[in-house]
Amino acid sequence: MKVARTIAELETAPGTGLVPTMGSLHAGHRALLAAARRENERVVMSLFVNPAQFDDASDLAAYPRDEAHDLSIAEEEGVDVVFAPDAGELYPDGFATWIEPERTGAEGEARAGHFRGVATVCLKLFNIVRPERAYFGQKDAQQVAVIRRLVRDLNVPLEIRVVPIVRDDDGLALSSRNVHLSAEERERALGLSRALHGAIETDDPVAAARAALNGLASDYVEIVDLDGATVLAAAVRVGSTRLIDNVLVEGDLQ
Ligand code: PAJ
Repeated sequence: MKVARTIAELETAPGTGLVPTMGSLHAGHRALLAAARRENERVVMSLFVNPAQFDDASDLAAYPRDEAHDLSIAEEEGVDVVFAPDAGELYPDGFATWIEPERTGAEGEARAGHFRGVATVCLKLFNIVRPERAYFGQKDAQQVAVIRRLVRDLNVPLEIRVVPIVRDDDGLALSSRNVHLSAEERERALGLSRALHGAIETDDPVAAARAALNGLASDYVEIVDLDGATVLAAAVRVGSTRLIDNVLVEGDLQ
């Protein structure tokens, strides 16, 4: 496995699948890497904690980082190349061009500037790596919607593949942020996936999920359209940790 720190070191090749990540890899990321491995001749994983998508400096500072662990997971999953640039490589002095997605839903409203940072770094990665396919998790449903829209609106020549949410046995969606939860907070956090799963069988999933979340401070509950599928999505705060989750209401992810 090659680790490229600069754009110059990174070669492009036909038949490449790209998995963009911010590291702190867990079984959710592994599912994306495994899908990419199955469907492509060559797999590139990017490992970059993108400062531009953090709306809060303390959140960026607290973001978990463990490159040695991430590289060993990438190796286990059969990644060919890890692209792990530093911030100056992607945002050199004088950087001044941004992608500004519109219609970013409640998640975009809750996190000013977040999807501008996500869309800009993803388009840069698409242009640098030039993959045939790029892999994203259903976990970040609004991110999928933004990236699909970007690819269509700007005629980016690649296919976006979406991988279902990987959960712990108790139902909690895996997230790099789960490490910040105490045992008691983790128990309360389970209310999020339970509320969403319970609500999708009802006539008014948004209202049912809101009612079921009564013990948790919710940022929003909303339906997100993923182009062929709709999901019921919510964000809650448990202590100082913000968690998001969603469940499929109808349609197929692909
Ligand atoms: P990150 O949070 O590291 O997530 C990388 C990818 O893994 C995303 O597509 C995310 O949806 C997916 N993922 C995370 N948890 C998952 C789970 N439990 N099940 C399935 N997939 C899961 O999302 C980002 O990084 C960044 O915004 C990025 C796209 C890399 C741009 O900086």
